[in-house]
Amino acid sequence: MSFTKIESDHIEFINLSSMESTPFNLLLFLTLLFHRHTHSSASTLPKEALPTKSGYLPVNSTTGSAIFYAFYEAQNPDDTSLSQTPLVIWLQGGPGCSSMTGNFYELGPWRLTPSLKQNVEHLELQPNPGSWNRIFGLLFLDNPIGTGFSIASTPEEIPTDQESVARHLFIAIRKFIALDPSFRYRPIYITGESYAGKYVPSIGYYILKRNPLLPLSKRVNLHGLAIGNGLTDPETQVGTHALQSYYHGLINEKQKTQLERLQFEAIQLTKAGNWSDATDARNNVFSFLQNATGLATLFDFRRYRPYDSIWVEEFLKNPEVKKALGVDESMVFEKCSKVVGAALHSDVMKSVRFKVEYLVKNTKLLLFQGQCDLRDGVFAAESWMKKMKWEGLQKFLDAERDIWYVNGGLAGYVQKSDNLSHVVVLAAGHFVSTDQAVNAQAMIEDWILDRSLFANKYIQNLFMDL
Ligand SMILES: *[C@@H]1O[C@H](CO)[C@@H](O)[C@H](O)[C@H]1NC(C)=O
Ligand SMILES: *[C@@H]1O[C@H](CO)[C@@H](O)[C@H](O)[C@H]1NC(C)=O
Ligand SMILES: *[C@@H]1O[C@H](CO)[C@@H](O)[C@H](O)[C@H]1NC(C)=O
Ligand SMILES: *[C@@H]1O[C@H](CO)[C@@H](O)[C@H](O)[C@H]1NC(C)=O
Repeated sequence: MSFTKIESDHIEFINLSSMESTPFNLLLFLTLLFHRHTHSSASTLPKEALPTKSGYLPVNSTTGSAIFYAFYEAQNPDDTSLSQTPLVIWLQGGPGCSSMTGNFYELGPWRLTPSLKQNVEHLELQPNPGSWNRIFGLLFLDNPIGTGFSIASTPEEIPTDQESVARHLFIAIRKFIALDPSFRYRPIYITGESYAGKYVPSIGYYILKRNPLLPLSKRVNLHGLAIGNGLTDPETQVGTHALQSYYHGLINEKQKTQLERLQFEAIQLTKAGNWSDATDARNNVFSFLQNATGLATLFDFRRYRPYDSIWVEEFLKNPEVKKALGVDESMVFEKCSKVVGAALHSDVMKSVRFKVEYLVKNTKLLLFQGQCDLRDGVFAAESWMKKMKWEGLQKFLDAERDIWYVNGGLAGYVQKSDNLSHVVVLAAGHFVSTDQAVNAQAMIEDWILDRSLFANKYIQNLFMDL
């Protein structure tokens, strides 16, 4: 069997030969193109939707490579001086997908929404009721360099491993903090999705190792890390797809056996350290599953058409939007960079579980998954979590799984012990905030503020004993 389809852990590429693009998507795409040439006022960025700050954080003064950022200050902070208001950083996956997808399609304050104007479908920015900047500052970084609007001076400078990714991120985060003296002591939470299941532990680990070597004024005030539908321990995760799909009724027993054989190949190549072939073998697993099920997307088995994240690319092609964000008009925006994807091809199957093991002993960690994702879902996450070498693990595994409600409605399940929280988000796929914006907002706010199901049970029990 040979598969040629380009797969990304984050996003479907708009590839007309791709099985994941439907005629509907193509129609919309063409309509948007047509519209853009006929009505230049479409898809602009109204003043009220502008980020508080956006632009570039240089990561290498010699070469000029720089990370693009868009920052939205908290809308209704608890602390009006902002000096203690948490800062949440969001990293998209891929590898090579822009965090502007997180911004304009998932958890940013303004989301792209199609609407009809004179019978022509066009995109509009609308306030997001589930934005993550309601009470926290929210920073989107296009990571690594070469991704989205970020600049890689040469393709050779694009990181090929997680240590280099973390080194650049660390520089960028420190540069961001230095932009405003009031950022200095704000608690920082680093979050992300999908391939950021590698980035988030890697930058967290880097920060905790580097901080003690630096004067107080140069440390990054890390308070916690959160990963949604992450790829973290690929060797374990790649072994879960056959069973998950079989029990969902998506493949039969014969296909399950075939898929298990493909999974085994990926695991063997990973164990052998044959990294590039191991990545290809994992892609074969997904191609087989895609072909066998005929689903619109493996990111959500309920969907009859793929996620519409291509809207972000359409929107960010507009020169006026680029100008408003502080980006040179000549920058070509791709929602996922194939060059960055290629640079990290051999990184895909490398595990960062050991970094998570270190982090959970030293800071708080949230792992959450939309329940309907077939690529980086709940079963895949629980499979590696239970392998962690951590003295708190047994207590976590024995902890009650609480039923989680938001505004009186069933939202999912929360399991928490010590520094580790795990959330299953119901009626959501890979893009949790796209599907359940308000619930995802409740989750991140309660987790950061140690509230409701994320409150420290040890302290509660202490009071009960009194
Ligand atoms: C900056 O670029 C130069 C030249 O490519 C390289 O030697 C150096 O290691 C880079 N620095 C960082 C922090 O990546
Ligand atoms: C990697 O695996 C392939 C089979 O997929 C094999 O042909 C190749 O020799 C292996 N490379 C190394 C360096 O082991
Ligand atoms: C896809 O599925 C069809 C029919 O189920 C089969 O004939 C074909 O070989 C499959 N292709 C791949 C690449 O698995
Ligand atoms: C949780 O993290 C704190 C540091 O914030 C650490 O002191 C504690 O030992 C950790 N708990 C466990 C069970 O690892």
